[in-house]
Amino acid sequence: MAFADTLPSSSAAAAPTTGIAPSLDAFWMPFTPNRKFKQSPRLIVGGEGLHYDLADGRRVLDAIAGLWCVNAGHRNPRISAAMKAQIDVLDYASNFQIGHPAAFELAQRLARFAPEGMNHVFFTNSGSESVDTALKIALAYHRARGDAGRYRLIGRERAYHGVGFGGISVGGIGRQRSTFGPLLNGVDHLPHTHDLVRNAFSRGEPEHGIDKADALEALLALHDASTVAAVIVEPVAGSTGVLPPPRGYLKRLREICDRHGVLLIFDEVITGFGRLGANFAADLFGVTPDIITAAKGLTNGAVPMGAVLMRDAIHDAFMQGSVGAIELSHGYTYSGHPLACAAAMATLDAYTEDGLIAQAAALSPFFEDAIHGLRGLPGVIDIRNTGLLGGIELQAWADGPGTHAQAVAQQCVELGVLVRSVGDTIALSPPLTIGREHIEQIVDALRTAIAQTARPTDKEA
Ligand SMILES: Cc1ncc(COP(=O)(O)O)c(C=O)c1O
Repeated sequence: MAFADTLPSSSAAAAPTTGIAPSLDAFWMPFTPNRKFKQSPRLIVGGEGLHYDLADGRRVLDAIAGLWCVNAGHRNPRISAAMKAQIDVLDYASNFQIGHPAAFELAQRLARFAPEGMNHVFFTNSGSESVDTALKIALAYHRARGDAGRYRLIGRERAYHGVGFGGISVGGIGRQRSTFGPLLNGVDHLPHTHDLVRNAFSRGEPEHGIDKADALEALLALHDASTVAAVIVEPVAGSTGVLPPPRGYLKRLREICDRHGVLLIFDEVITGFGRLGANFAADLFGVTPDIITAAKGLTNGAVPMGAVLMRDAIHDAFMQGSVGAIELSHGYTYSGHPLACAAAMATLDAYTEDGLIAQAAALSPFFEDAIHGLRGLPGVIDIRNTGLLGGIELQAWADGPGTHAQAVAQQCVELGVLVRSVGDTIALSPPLTIGREHIEQIVDALRTAIAQTARPTDKEA
């Protein structure tokens, strides 16, 4: 009997004292209300292409690509084959003072895939590690150039940069910060760019908000620009509810950073690898940062891996002094793991040779039209999109933030579509392999779920 079959299907089967079945108790699930989930667990037991198979026998359309990562579809044959072949040849090799060819080959391929001039790659195992690595590289870069006075880091309100101490320090989600005390010193935040009054129902980049980038000048003046090492932003903020950048905003940040010798980091953990219909958001928006953080779509989620890509000048600043000295005291046991390298190279093949990024770009206008068709439903207060990334914001209910979107997301599963609720926004981020009929299925499910869960207080925008 499979483990999943032993699980309770409802709270009735749960242990009487804790309400949680013993088979579920040991695993402390991340970012989950554990006690609630375990009273009525929902488990995925298989996946293929655009779909997941649930333990109760149902098949659902995965409209979120796992967790914004399975861009090339579940169990993509190229990726599965590459991983199977790799594990039979080399399971593990360190990249500490020895190496294996796949890590060098992958780095070279990523440099070609990245914006012009970003020719160097440091491997990590997650988005969080990529962010902390990028922040450390930024600080160390200034020190390597004799500018140790640059120690401040600037993030943005509502940003999500993972869960490392660096990431939560520059991150801008209150609860994720306040749970853990004072965090890093010398961090400040730009204002977020969400502006329902001026920008609701914008398609792509909203018209208003370039002034929010000018807040960087004010922060630099406040702290003395010569103390600031780097600014980090998600080009399109994802986990806070899908916020595309206001028109001209990223370019303005770039100009201000250049004027003051501050590094610009794009956290492309979600936006990289075709999500926006381009290799990276940097390509789509025509703004090249100094450092890009990546993960998720890098290996199609098939095995953990992250990467930090940087401009030549950042890397080259470290390549001085004794050739026998370690240039950066940083790295992970699994930096450039052979299995992850094999998965990443096959994933890049899928994106480029199978034309998935071009496919995503071609489908984006249809996706935009389809999700904006939900405007006018009760409680829908905004719809936002870039590429194959979409957010439908719902009016908050009086019984607490997030409850409206959670109810809609729950109902969507009943209707055969898996979406994600982030705050009171429904996030959509389907595999790039999706077709028009599937987009219609997602939008139909949302339309029905919104109607079925609507309360009399939900207004039509
Ligand atoms: C923009 C961004 N940065 C960093 C992370 C953290 O990635 P991970 O969960 O792989 O550590 C995420 C995860 O969603 C993210 O969206």
